[in-house]
Amino acid sequence: MENRGYPAGDAGAAAQERAVQEFYMDQVRGCLTEEIGAPSFFVTTIGCQMNARDSEKLEGMLEHMGFVKAAQEGQADLVLYNTCTVRENANLKVYGRLGVLKKQKERNPRMVIGLCGCMMQEAEEVETLSRKYPFIDLIFGTHNIYKFPQLLFSVLERRRQGGKHRTYIDVWEKPQLIVEDLPVDRKYSFKSGVNIMFGCNNFCSYCIVPYVRGRERSRRPQEILEEIRGLVADGVKEVMLLGQNVNSYGKNLDTPVTFAQLLNQVAQIPGLERIRFMTSHPKDLSDELIAVMGSCPKVCNHLHLPLQSGSSRILKEMNRRYTKEQYLALVEKIRRAVPDISLTTDIIVGFPGETEEDFQETLDVVRRVRYDSAFTFIYSKRTGTPAAAMENQVPEAVVKDRFDRLLEEIQEIARQEAGRLTGTVQQVLVEEENDHEAGLVTGRMTNNMLVHFPGGRELIGQLVSVSLDTCRGFYYMGTIERQEEN
Ligand code: 5AD
Ligand code: SF4
Repeated sequence: MENRGYPAGDAGAAAQERAVQEFYMDQVRGCLTEEIGAPSFFVTTIGCQMNARDSEKLEGMLEHMGFVKAAQEGQADLVLYNTCTVRENANLKVYGRLGVLKKQKERNPRMVIGLCGCMMQEAEEVETLSRKYPFIDLIFGTHNIYKFPQLLFSVLERRRQGGKHRTYIDVWEKPQLIVEDLPVDRKYSFKSGVNIMFGCNNFCSYCIVPYVRGRERSRRPQEILEEIRGLVADGVKEVMLLGQNVNSYGKNLDTPVTFAQLLNQVAQIPGLERIRFMTSHPKDLSDELIAVMGSCPKVCNHLHLPLQSGSSRILKEMNRRYTKEQYLALVEKIRRAVPDISLTTDIIVGFPGETEEDFQETLDVVRRVRYDSAFTFIYSKRTGTPAAAMENQVPEAVVKDRFDRLLEEIQEIARQEAGRLTGTVQQVLVEEENDHEAGLVTGRMTNNMLVHFPGGRELIGQLVSVSLDTCRGFYYMGTIERQEEN
């Protein structure tokens, strides 16, 4: 059933799988309390929002199994790295940590070390890891996260029976089920990510994600809505709908639903105040979605719209399936519908064959769109992707020089744009006490910018109206006007 979403019959199999994992959670809890008492864990997340959400699930399962969160990695009995592989430096980060972990395990031999996530979907990496770092206890991938309790049980059970140490490896090439309703430990009480789909079908020529996250699978709307209703009942005011390409949501469900329709349904949930989503592919961003963004007050005033390159020639080589002109026309259409929207983007510098003229096209788009902020990346060669086999890789010094020039341009524009709301009153969701200055709290506006203002921790999780007094670079200082009904 390639490319078809998950068939209806799988709902039964998924429920059964959940029951199996609940069984193993009980087993682990039993064997732990018998042997160790209350063990502690530390999960490190590398990478994107999808990984952050996966880590919340892993942490939720660990807590359900009787583990408690350690304050520091060095004190933990179980250490888990949820890895990323989108660029090479994400992989290097993991290798950099393994030496430290080895020493920690020498001090505490009962420590369990696990690696999971995107990097584990690459066979050569797993081979290197298990050969050079034999002290790792468990390796699993992106498709079987829900099986973590069972995998952990296998590791602990082998130890208990005095079996010789070996790295337990379970990585699946393809996804099988979407298992709902496993425990989750949310990082924030008032906002939450919600997966709406997994995987990606786009195969941008530089990107490894489709190979490690598999083909697109959408969750059913009823399940998404039910999860969000549960979150709202639990105090959540803001959700971030997550997918590699949310604009193609629902295409492969048994009963197709568009992303715009899903957004409309989510917006009707009483008590939910704000909706964000990530990530949008420009080629799939529909007029229907623009209309919903313009008309639905709960949809936040922010759109992350990855450009990747401003050169139509490079975009074609990247297999992005839009041109510079189409991208600019789309931005114009969005700005007409939502005039004060905040736009952010991702840009890659140094894609194979990129010339100075191509780079100038990127700068031209940056100057025309005037992004509120942008993530800029140096092209990283990922083995197995079409771009890795392209011959005309750009010399490092040239890439570095372009990267610096791009960053300077982006920062200058962002600085100029940042102050445009000075003097206005904006709705703010208070996120935390300010770490730098006592007596201040920090909140996020609907356009995703931060504002610091005098207030106490009782405001955390509340929506308040804040007057933006001054802009300091990329954030504001403000004064609270009043608390909203919530
Ligand atoms: N090299 C550099 N940046 C990349 N991205 C994805 N793959 C690569 C790569 N091989 C960037 C893209 C994407 C973001 C999440 O990471 O800009 O939007
Ligand atoms: Fe990678 Fe392109 Fe899919 Fe984004 S849309 S995850 S860049 S292949």
